[in-house]
Order: sequence, then structure tokens, then C-alpha cells
Amino acid sequence: VEGKDKTKRAPVVSVMGHVDHGKTSLLDYIRRAKVASGESGGITQHIGAYHVETDHGMVSFLDTPGHAAFTAMRARGAQCTDIVVLVVAADDGVMPQTKEAVDHARSAGVPIVVAINKMDKEEADPDRVKNELAGMEVIPEDWGGDVQFVPVSAHTGAGIDDLLEALILQAEMLELEASTDAPAKGVVVESSLERGRGSVATVLVQNGTLRQGDMVVAGPYYGKVRAMTDEFGKQVKGAGPSIPVEILGLNGTPDAGDEFLAVTDEKKAKELAEFRHSR
Ligand code: GTP
Ligand code: NA
Ligand code: MG
Repeated sequence: VEGKDKTKRAPVVSVMGHVDHGKTSLLDYIRRAKVASGESGGITQHIGAYHVETDHGMVSFLDTPGHAAFTAMRARGAQCTDIVVLVVAADDGVMPQTKEAVDHARSAGVPIVVAINKMDKEEADPDRVKNELAGMEVIPEDWGGDVQFVPVSAHTGAGIDDLLEALILQAEMLELEASTDAPAKGVVVESSLERGRGSVATVLVQNGTLRQGDMVVAGPYYGKVRAMTDEFGKQVKGAGPSIPVEILGLNGTPDAGDEFLAVTDEKKAKELAEFRHSR
């Protein structure tokens, strides 16, 4: 990575799994429980990504709507997920999209942490989930494998802290590093046109620090970062590695998975954006 001061960075986590197994519920629970705590009137917004502070460190979550987004981002060459949380409902077990998710994670070379969800249900059968995944070479640690399985409930919150701890542990094994002391570089998570705000893009900084006022190129678009907000909609002046932020000021709406980078001046930005546009 570019920059001199390589330091530890937080893991970026994507949640995947079969339809209705609880991906959104899990992300919502974590966001409500962890992001809002300690913030006065902390109403969190949906910005497609958020980060949480745990007792052991920070974790960033990409709130991508499932496999399609993950695949689209990968097709653009964006490798922005460090860990996949595979959500499997304990009352339903491994289903077709569970298998797909395992394949996606494998072909991306991204480690999996399994969240056995809906443990509050009477029909919950975590051993079945373990058996079925073990049959696909996703072997639990307590069975001699290297995959952490964490029983959770997105409804009661049981096991959520254990899940966050498992993610931190997995991240430590990956030895993730980045520099804060470099021009920002990262990936677009999502973007849209909003009335009165113009282009609004959620970007994930992967290296360097993004600052308000920076000239950036994002996919075939460019612009000066006019304003930057965190997941509370609160203005921030800068964002370092693994931090997602919403930015205003681009002259268009780049696609999820497009690369963004800070450049020195508008001329460069324009040239680069035009070059990309022509491809
Ligand atoms: P898609 O995005 O449609 O694939 O679904 P999803 O994986 O995001 O699942 P979602 O969070 O929408 O949950 C599906 C259903 O399961 C909803 O009715 C949730 O309330 C329910 N659900 C999610 N987690 C739990 C849980 O831990 N326990 C129980 N009892 N129900 C849950
Ligand atoms: Na659902
Ligand atoms: Mg969902």
C-alpha cells in the first residue's frame, strides 16, 4: 500500500446468506445496539455501510443487498471485503444461496465466519447447520477446522458480542494494514441523486485519508468533496482506512464497485474521469 505510516486497519465485513435467513436483521441489530450507543439522539441513517466500535477494536460493515452487489463489485475488480459473515438460519439450515455465498467467498479468497441465526426459535438446530456446512468443507473450529461458528439471534441480540469478537479475531489473523498518510483511495459502495443534495455517494476509504475539499475521481465522474457525513448524517472533516462516509460534490453517480481516488487538482480529475468515460 502507498504511504509511509502503515498501521493496523479495521476489517471490512460483508453479510451474505440465503433469503430470509436474517442478514438485514443482523445488520440492523448491530447498528442499533452499537452505532447509536453513546451518541446523543443517535438516529442512524441507512448509508450502505457503517462502522462500530467494539471493546476490542473497530469493525466496518458493508450493507450490500446480498450476492448481486458483492458479485458486481468483484466484477469491477473491487476487493473490498476482508471477511464474509455467512448467515444461516438455525431452523432452516443450508440452502441454495448459502452454497452460493460459500462459493463467492471462496473464489474471492475471503475467510468466512458463520453466524447461526434465529437461535431463539424452538426449532433451532445448530448441529445440523454445522453438519451441512462441514459437508461443504466449511469445518467448525471445534471439529478441528478453521471456521468460527457463532450462534446468534438477531431478535434477542444473544451472541452478537461473540460474533463481533470472532470478527476481530479473524481480522487479527489477516494482519490488515493501511496508511493514513496518503491521498485517499477506495471504492464506491452506492450512489444516488438526491433532491437538493445532488450526487450522494457512499464510499469506503481503503487507504489514505479522505478530507473535505479533496478533489476526487469516482468511476467516470469527479468533483470536489463539498461535504462529508458519517452514518449519523453528522459532518466529518476526514475519514481514514476502512471508514465509510457519504460524500457530496461529484458530477454524477458512480456504480457500486467503482474505484475512487483523491487527486491533486481539477485538471487531473477531469482527464482521468474522461479517460474512464471513454472506456
Ligand atoms: P433477504 O434480504 O430478503 O434475503 O432476507 P434477510 O436475510 O435480510 O432476512 P431478514 O432480516 O429480512 O429476516 C427475515 C425474517 O426472519 C424476518 O421476518 C425477521 O424478523 C426474521 N428473523 C431474522 N432474524 C431472526 C432471529 O434471530 N430470530 C427470529 N425468530 N426471527 C428472525
Ligand atoms: Na427478507
Ligand atoms: Mg435483507
